[in-house]
Amino acid sequence: MFYRPEDGHPFPHNPFNAIVTPRPIGWISTRGADGADNLAPYSFFNAVAYVPPQVMFASTSAKPDRDGTKDSVANIRETGVFCVNIVEIAMKDAMNLTSGPWPREVDEFTAAGIAKSDCETIACARVAAAPASLECRLTQIVHLPGEANFAVFGEVTGIHLRDDCVVNGRFDVTRFQPLARMGYRDYAVIREVFELRRPGE
Ligand SMILES: Cc1cc2nc3c(=O)[nH]c(=O)nc-3n(C[C@H](O)[C@H](O)[C@H](O)COP(=O)(O)O)c2cc1C
Repeated sequence: MFYRPEDGHPFPHNPFNAIVTPRPIGWISTRGADGADNLAPYSFFNAVAYVPPQVMFASTSAKPDRDGTKDSVANIRETGVFCVNIVEIAMKDAMNLTSGPWPREVDEFTAAGIAKSDCETIACARVAAAPASLECRLTQIVHLPGEANFAVFGEVTGIHLRDDCVVNGRFDVTRFQPLARMGYRDYAVIREVFELRRPGE
């Protein structure tokens, strides 16, 4: 079948949400100008450059008390920094709890019982037990078409790797099993990894 998104779709749930999958989950920690910590998952997330290392995530829709966006983007606007924590399968329920529509004053670390540590290069908390965390300085926020759509870009200024995930000089995803977002309410977990050499390698 074919359809034009601008005309709507004939399904009970939007198929677009299930097409670009699996998506990595960036568990974004931020700190407001008032010092309050915030943590929320974003699957419109990816790495976008190697040197210097850069990442992006996108925020869609808004919370009533946050001036046209959500807590994460609002905090980043205030402070210019954020941290991306990688989510393993063992953290799925904690991650999910932090996605609730909590008011701005709620610290999701505390609400979901997640231990935090300080970042090294930015004034922000991180998920202490995450397999990896990327400390980021904001480079730009791009307002995308639509009402509350923002893409946030950041340069990575510090990288934490959990010791047990570093094996033979490699960051080994089989040690923690990354969680990925599929469409609807579905998730995937990476349990099987294989190598493929590119032409000329
Ligand atoms: C796995 C997962 C991925 C999500 N990805 C996004 C996303 O990419 N963009 C977005 O705006 N919301 C996303 N959400 C919803 C936000 O986490 C949710 O709106 C949250 O309350 C935002 O928190 P904040 O206001 O503290 O930033 C996702 C939720 C889950 C459970």
